[in-house]
Amino acid sequence: MRPSILVAVHGAAGRMGQAILRTLIGREDIELVAALVRSGSDLSGRLLAATLGARAPAIAYTSSLRADLMPAVLIDFSVAAAFDRALACAVDRKMAFVSGTTGLTAKQRAALDSAAASIAVLWSANFSLGVALLARLVAEAARSLPDWDCEIVEAHHNRKQDAPSGTALALGREVASARDQDFDAVAKFSHVGVNAPRAPDSIGFSVTRAGDIVGEHTVMFATQGERIELVHRVTDRDIFARGAVAAAHWIAARPPGKYALADVLAGDPSQVSDA
Ligand SMILES: NC(=O)c1ccc[n+]([C@@H]2O[C@H](COP(=O)([O-])OP(=O)(O)OC[C@H]3O[C@@H](n4cnc5c(N)ncnc54)[C@H](OP(=O)(O)O)[C@@H]3O)[C@@H](O)[C@H]2O)c1
Repeated sequence: MRPSILVAVHGAAGRMGQAILRTLIGREDIELVAALVRSGSDLSGRLLAATLGARAPAIAYTSSLRADLMPAVLIDFSVAAAFDRALACAVDRKMAFVSGTTGLTAKQRAALDSAAASIAVLWSANFSLGVALLARLVAEAARSLPDWDCEIVEAHHNRKQDAPSGTALALGREVASARDQDFDAVAKFSHVGVNAPRAPDSIGFSVTRAGDIVGEHTVMFATQGERIELVHRVTDRDIFARGAVAAAHWIAARPPGKYALADVLAGDPSQVSDA
């Protein structure tokens, strides 16, 4: 049997961090060696079993990666403010880096590109198979309907920190790229005011934050008399966790470089949907 791939999870206390830890329990091909939480977190020093039950690996949550541990991959689902440290740790320790943290600045995205010179990196705003397909359908619709208005509507739970969602922005970039537009020039983040009609080439974004909505995205293409809506709804955040774990498994043996979820799906889509 092939040895397990060793992984560490950064942001382990969060909703996604916990979903990833649950996904890893019982897997023989991939082994959790560190669950990293914020310095000062109540969980620091407590056994994983405290939140995950008796089947959890017998390790404690910690705020720093022990020098003797050699994970092959660092999985990061945290907050933008903690992202730089996680990426620096991956580069220093020569770990491949899989991240789904959203709300990153242009500087942080550029740092990911630089890191790709020395380690394998894969960042995705959305680790679901359905959204990967949605992005392809959106690009096709944007190319086929170049003059139709495009609006992107998204909804998430009331504790989400960034808005619009990373997925909404990524879908907007697909539209802009398919239409040969400069995304930053055409993205419009609110329709408010009087005498403020819609700019013809714009891509509009609307945001809802309420309750426990896991994630919903609608990409609308509209013209006089008809419209098309491409909708994706997530009801269980474990799908993101499965996608991230599949990506970690896939990237462990890759050389330095920047990879996308589509590269993982191109290998074996069932890894993400059924794992
Ligand atoms: N790409 C995708 O498919 C996808 C899917 C869902 C979510 N996301 C993104 O993933 C991220 C996490 O989402 P979530 O729903 O899990 O949010 P969350 O529940 O708020 O979790 C974020 C976690 O990050 C932790 N954190 C903050 N500072 C830290 C630090 N310095 N070191 C280590 N951990 C730190 C927080 O710790 P405390 O609890 O101690 O404050 C919290 O547990 C967000 O950016 C979200 O938008 C991406």
